[in-house]
Amino acid sequence: MDLELRDQLYAQAKEWVLAAGKQIRNKINDPLVIDTKSNPNDLVTTMDKETEAFFATEIKNKYPDHFILSEEGFGDDLKTLDGTVWIIDPIDGTMNFVHQKRNFAISIGIYQDGVGEIGLIYDVMSDILYHAKRNEGAYKDKEKLAPLKSDVKLEQSILSLNHFWLCENRLVDERVMQGLVKKVRGTRTYGSAALEFAYVAEGILDGYLTMTLSPWDVAAGMVIVNEVGGVTGNIDGEALNMLKRNSVFTCNPVIQKDIIDDYFVKGKK
Ligand code: IPD
Ligand code: CA
Ligand code: CA
Repeated sequence: MDLELRDQLYAQAKEWVLAAGKQIRNKINDPLVIDTKSNPNDLVTTMDKETEAFFATEIKNKYPDHFILSEEGFGDDLKTLDGTVWIIDPIDGTMNFVHQKRNFAISIGIYQDGVGEIGLIYDVMSDILYHAKRNEGAYKDKEKLAPLKSDVKLEQSILSLNHFWLCENRLVDERVMQGLVKKVRGTRTYGSAALEFAYVAEGILDGYLTMTLSPWDVAAGMVIVNEVGGVTGNIDGEALNMLKRNSVFTCNPVIQKDIIDDYFVKGKK
């Protein structure tokens, strides 16, 4: 992607993200209409839809040849990632948004022919923007994030996990997960994949592991994590398919191989 064009896109995306976040903060105590999607705990609110509609309208007006891959139905039905694609989660962490009124984020990744060029993750209530352009480093507001430490040991690491392996159709044996939880120093669950990626980039988590995420949960985070030397793949260490749901493990590269080899490869045998 032409760098001048990328800078313009980045500035525009940032302006829209901050404006959408301000609107959400202004309306945070307004009554919400809450619907459910795939199951009774899969929530969506009018705010998710309004926010996505805002981005879709602005993008289609200003960049009619760009594409949108997004959660709430205002995007395009894409079969490829050819061209410029905005991958949008208008509110990541809707359950937190509904129950806690905090700990949720707007997540936007801008990809060119499948390559992540821009990542923006906005922690709306804390007014903190994590952002990155490919090969230009990652930032938390104005602070440049340091490269991830190379001396991290699994025994001293903190992993963010969600608990899908406890559910039906689980992909891993829960005894494998027990072994992993006992091995690391601690585990956390924040309920917003985008923020969990941002925390990995910030180095306050050493990894985030989950069994199923959509492209809009990870698109921005992957760009940001990549810029501090982090890696993202599925639980077999393979590249993610950005048009489908995937298991996802984003982490400091120092712990990636050990966890995959010791807990997922062996765990399947
Ligand atoms: C969800 C959050 C959550 C993760 C779920 C996602 P949503 O996104 O990121 O932390 O565990 O898998 O679907 O539905 O709040 O945008
Ligand atoms: Ca999400
Ligand atoms: Ca969402």
